[in-house]
Amino acid sequence: MSHATKPMTARAGAPLSGTIRVPGDKSISHRSLMFGTLAVGETRIEGLLEAEDVLATAAAMKALGANVRHLGPGAWSVDGVGVGGLSEPETALDFGNAGTGVRLTMGMVASHALTATFIGDASLSRRPMGRVLDPLRDMGAEVLARAGDRLPLTVRGPETALPISYRVPVPSAQVKSAVLLAGLNAPGVTTVIEPIPTRDHTERMLIGFGAHLEIEQAADGERILRLTGQPDLKPQAITVPGDPSSAAFMIVAALIVPGSDVTVRDVLLNPHRTGILKTLEEMGADISIENVRETGGEMLGDVRARHSRLRGITVPAERAPSMIDEYPVLAMAAAFAEGETRMLGLHELTVKESDRLAAVADGLAANGVPHEKGDDWLTVTGGARVNGGGTVTTHLDHRIAMSFLVLGLASENPVSVDDGAPIATSFPDFNDLMAGLGGRIDIQAEDAA
Ligand code: S3P
Repeated sequence: MSHATKPMTARAGAPLSGTIRVPGDKSISHRSLMFGTLAVGETRIEGLLEAEDVLATAAAMKALGANVRHLGPGAWSVDGVGVGGLSEPETALDFGNAGTGVRLTMGMVASHALTATFIGDASLSRRPMGRVLDPLRDMGAEVLARAGDRLPLTVRGPETALPISYRVPVPSAQVKSAVLLAGLNAPGVTTVIEPIPTRDHTERMLIGFGAHLEIEQAADGERILRLTGQPDLKPQAITVPGDPSSAAFMIVAALIVPGSDVTVRDVLLNPHRTGILKTLEEMGADISIENVRETGGEMLGDVRARHSRLRGITVPAERAPSMIDEYPVLAMAAAFAEGETRMLGLHELTVKESDRLAAVADGLAANGVPHEKGDDWLTVTGGARVNGGGTVTTHLDHRIAMSFLVLGLASENPVSVDDGAPIATSFPDFNDLMAGLGGRIDIQAEDAA
């Protein structure tokens, strides 16, 4: 999944206006294919995100034995093999840039008596895998890795996995989900204790597919999940709601480009994902949420954002899990907010597709935005005008690319990114949708890879 680099440049122009839909949620798309694989019978998916990350998961599920078919735009069918029914893949599973895909699939494989090798691109090969491999080893999996717990590596599952009780040491939905997915094929009860709650799509989908999962909410906010292993999962019909992390780029663009008025329809409003909306509202953003409804166990609604005079605030560390992927684009809103925006509790940002704390700070520096960064915090001092004019290094990180292109739509001088190709990992329609709203983003001639 290596590709030619695609430099891109965004420049200010007319106000952004219109009503759009963004593609399906990435977290739910990965999980729909995985749970479909672990159910017996045909799961039908509408609105699947057809981006590189999710297509890598679709290919992996095929390699593990599911019959995965593309029926039409966003429409997919998965004939599952059932819990315990995965087969050994013939070749390495290539997850490209996809952290969620690789970590959750490691969980699935770790409790099946088979061997699978995991590979990925340069970004994924730098990311820590020990956070999922540690509990999977406790469950009986063996791991063969050349370079610490980094890709490429091979996981061999035991004949019978041990159900464990695991306290998740970092706030990570991926770690929680890997243990729960492994627990599906362990006899007995697998317990996951989450001191700081993270996105709960795995729990909702486990229940939706018919697993027995008890959720205890302790008074101090800690969540205890008890999953009974080896259930018969029932195939489902799933409609994937719009990805709030993709919608965030369009919403922030509307807030900072003068005169804009943009509505994003059918956005997932799961409370573990809406930290960015709360934060922007606290900054004075004119955002309204209409047509809120529930579908398939998740809330969704239409989000309207209009150009606003923003002001700096402190974003508390406790909010980080509910907006972990949105800090890069929040920093762009902060560049246009009067005064200081302080973002705290950002340690997890350093182990994403890139070190996002460093990449954001470098990009702000290249575009003349005053800021200060610490080990796990960032302060941006904003104002009505941003100079722009810089070229930002994206480090194979889709969200760094999209964030700085959004900045360029409102800055005095155009903003360039060295490589916008990674946008295809999560939001292939980004440029077209932005152009439809009136945004000016040019793609320069492609360099050889
Ligand atoms: C995801 C969880 C988050 C998030 C990622 C998707 C998921 O990662 O950053 O984009 O689908 O479970 P962590 O759980 O590692 O924080």
